[in-house]
Amino acid sequence: MSADAQKKAAGEAAAQLVEDGMVVGLGTGSTAAWFVKALAARKLDIKGVPTSDGTADLARDLGILIVGLDDVRRVDLTVDGADEVGPGLSLIKGGGAALLREKLVWEASSRCVVIADAAKQVKALGRFPLPIEVVRFGHIHTGQRLADIAAEFDLPPPRLRKSDRGLVITDGGNLIYDMASGRIDAPAALGEALKSVTGVVDHGLFLDLADEALIGTDDGVVRLTP
Ligand code: 5RP
Repeated sequence: MSADAQKKAAGEAAAQLVEDGMVVGLGTGSTAAWFVKALAARKLDIKGVPTSDGTADLARDLGILIVGLDDVRRVDLTVDGADEVGPGLSLIKGGGAALLREKLVWEASSRCVVIADAAKQVKALGRFPLPIEVVRFGHIHTGQRLADIAAEFDLPPPRLRKSDRGLVITDGGNLIYDMASGRIDAPAALGEALKSVTGVVDHGLFLDLADEALIGTDDGVVRLTP
């Protein structure tokens, strides 16, 4: 089974968790897009809180009622993808540069379900470079402070994310630095250190946030809990 078929299976399984009347957090990325499509096909009476402009456009096009995070008191269920799913459902997110809105929606949610293809499961986080969102003002200085932190954790300096069209700008107007590591031995300590830098808005370590994972595998969708 291809990775995309596994993503689709996980997204479709997650769509079955949604019930009429729910406020649903809509993740970002190719796996979350499968969830949004399967959810729209169910034609439930729900409100969707998107985690990116791209997801908002997709959901709206498919007929899902879109509201902002501040339009609701609480999100009942958020379903989102991940770049890595590690021990205890620790995650790296932000490959799609949506980590800030994703984390805000996750933290406002009663239940968070991560969906992924089997290749995303890892024994230790860090194979995927850790995205760090920073404000544009003074970002070279912020990047230097990130490099200092990386050195403390025996990691190479993070790199500013660029695409063919130039610097990658997030929906919030910020930049992304990617911290390639190979292996993050102390994710909580690293996350705290990164958050202590003034120019850092947030990072892609999602620790103690996922309540369950639905992983698409060749043998079907496997449910994991922390
Ligand atoms: C976006 C994310 C995505 O959930 C993550 O990059 C996974 O993407 P995909 O489902 O396309 O593999 O964190 O910021």
